[in-house]
Amino acid sequence: MEINAIQASFNLDHIAIESSNPKKLSKFYKEIMQMDLQLYNNKDLICIGPSRKLIIVKGKKNKFSYAGFVCRNLECLEAFRTFVIKRSVEILDFDNPYLKMGSFSVQDPDGNIISFGLSSNEKQNLNNHFYGPLQHLTFASKNVENFQQFYSDKLGFKISDTVVHVDGSLATCFVTSNHEHHTVACFKSKNSGIDHHSYEVRDWNLIRDWCDHFSNKDVKLIWGPGRHGPGNNLFVFIEDIDKNWIELSAELEIIHDRKKKEWPQKEKTLNLWGKAIMRS
Ligand SMILES: [Fe+2]
Repeated sequence: MEINAIQASFNLDHIAIESSNPKKLSKFYKEIMQMDLQLYNNKDLICIGPSRKLIIVKGKKNKFSYAGFVCRNLECLEAFRTFVIKRSVEILDFDNPYLKMGSFSVQDPDGNIISFGLSSNEKQNLNNHFYGPLQHLTFASKNVENFQQFYSDKLGFKISDTVVHVDGSLATCFVTSNHEHHTVACFKSKNSGIDHHSYEVRDWNLIRDWCDHFSNKDVKLIWGPGRHGPGNNLFVFIEDIDKNWIELSAELEIIHDRKKKEWPQKEKTLNLWGKAIMRS
């Protein structure tokens, strides 16, 4: 049996990014993003909060390392593996240590490593932290067409929306592996790598609480509050000390069965309320 990413219903479990100073960066996530710190194998720093996990590995600032998606059981994972192998996607040797045994990893056309598996999260006492599960990951790419084709045709993500330049080329694609509007997105850019990672707090009032918390810690918003066109989500952005962009989102559209929407590449598509950070 084979099933695609949507049928397996994958959620983003964790991302790993590089930093030249993991210790310093992890302190930001502890203090500002309300995450506890753990050390793995005397090497990686794990920043962990309720339903959110970020791994910081020693390396080059702002460089994406890998991401892990999880589904509900081994049966779905195995059927998804069959789907991927049937489409001639190479399975990497890379073994993601933050997923249970049996996970596997692939590389997208830009070389981003994406792992699929089962969650290894143990129950932890994280009740005193603000709510904000890790929800989506957005990349930058020189070739959004290739990116979209890989995620939709080879992995079976569903294309929810696209943003299109006047000449018809793709400015942005939004793809999902569950009922949320997008779990992965990609912006056309001169660079490739990570654009931002996002935490879905669901409720506008929680964005308020997070922003009050940021203010208490003297962290300024770099964009928002605003509302995206695609996904219709409310958002604010901050950046960490390595200048990685972090989004807090609420009211992200839930999709059950609708056709893909196409949006024009203009400021209002990125922010229905006002100014936008245009990537291309
Ligand atoms: Fe986002």
